[in-house]
Amino acid sequence: MESQKQLTIGLFGFGVVGEGLYRVLQQTPSLKAKIKKVCIKDASKKRNAPDELFTTDKDVLLNDPEINVIVEVINESEPAFEIVSRALRSGKEVVSASKKMLAEHYPELLQLQKETGLSLLYEASACASIPVIRNLEEYYDNDLLHSIRAIVNGSTNFILTKMFEEKLDFKEALLLAQQLGFAEADPKLDVEGYDAVNKWTLLVNHAYGIVTHPDNLLFTGIQSIQGSDAVVAREKNFEIKLVAQAKKLVDGKVAAFVLPQFVKLTDPLSFVKNEYNGVVIESGFADKQFFYGKGAGSFPTASAVLSDIAALRYDYHYEYKKLYYHKPHELSSDFYLKIYVSFDDLSFIPKDKFEWIEEWHSDADRKYLVGVIAFKELQQNNWWRENNTSLILAPEPIIEDVEIRKIKKKSLELAGL
Ligand code: HSE
Repeated sequence: MESQKQLTIGLFGFGVVGEGLYRVLQQTPSLKAKIKKVCIKDASKKRNAPDELFTTDKDVLLNDPEINVIVEVINESEPAFEIVSRALRSGKEVVSASKKMLAEHYPELLQLQKETGLSLLYEASACASIPVIRNLEEYYDNDLLHSIRAIVNGSTNFILTKMFEEKLDFKEALLLAQQLGFAEADPKLDVEGYDAVNKWTLLVNHAYGIVTHPDNLLFTGIQSIQGSDAVVAREKNFEIKLVAQAKKLVDGKVAAFVLPQFVKLTDPLSFVKNEYNGVVIESGFADKQFFYGKGAGSFPTASAVLSDIAALRYDYHYEYKKLYYHKPHELSSDFYLKIYVSFDDLSFIPKDKFEWIEEWHSDADRKYLVGVIAFKELQQNNWWRENNTSLILAPEPIIEDVEIRKIKKKSLELAGL
């Protein structure tokens, strides 16, 4: 049998994930993977590793012919893109955890992989320890994948758990998430949903062959959720989660977005607490499957980087089967959502834009309604993000165009029109 390839690694970044990988590799000597050099930004910081391992000069890594793998786990997106592109062009394989960079440069990175024939692996960039990318890529046949719903951001899930179950206030919960190394350097990326939509951009490609930019996916985070929303959730026996979802509609197109959602206690996602992530896949014959694991933190993220490094020993690369071997799906805007909105003043809410309103509740300070609205209305307008308005999806939020037409026809018939 051919002996395993020796992997000599140039590592960019020695933060939560980089240092985690360094420690994990020390505990896996059988892998035949050795970190030769680590490129860091700030040479003055004290590191828990020998000084001679570090440099601040990226060329030392990128121009070293002995280094055949670049592992890139830095924070800044544009420098990360430059490193990854240069590495691939220099004939080096790449493992990256930079979800923002990957999502924003997907088309160029697909092209670079095609041109160079080299691997760019990024399992750690979505759901950290859960092997979701390789599973979507290798296991699920395009036609059978009905839907995928997931909690993909550990920090926001951690904050929601701490606020609503342990009664911490938002700031305390966020600070804890930062101290534990879960949050992004700019925590706005977590809290306002940017990190989740970046991850979702990657996953809708591996699930459905859709290459898109995060700007094209409707999203928000948990920044507008109020204590009164949590009270409503409790009354109705729901949990509030930030859920990324994609569903194949009857016309074959895909509805995809990232929004807060009320989830029933029977939904596997309600079981996902703290920094854990979860993925629920529904497919033709297997029916419902649930993947669960840590979605942030040093070792859980490093475990996914390690698995990618291990896969490189066998020249593993993503084939992008859904994109290149099947007819890729398209995103749809032609569907409806059942939403809950809470607000301070009804004048901020365009009631006439709803197809119908099912529930209406008014307290002295806070009011809410539950109704059905066209997805396009949310794409094209911002009222639901403004004036202290909070939007949360109903547990089964997607209603197809054909269903709405049937319901409308029936109500006209009942009215004798
Ligand atoms: N900030 C990210 C999260 C880290 O909380 O999920 C893991 O990607």
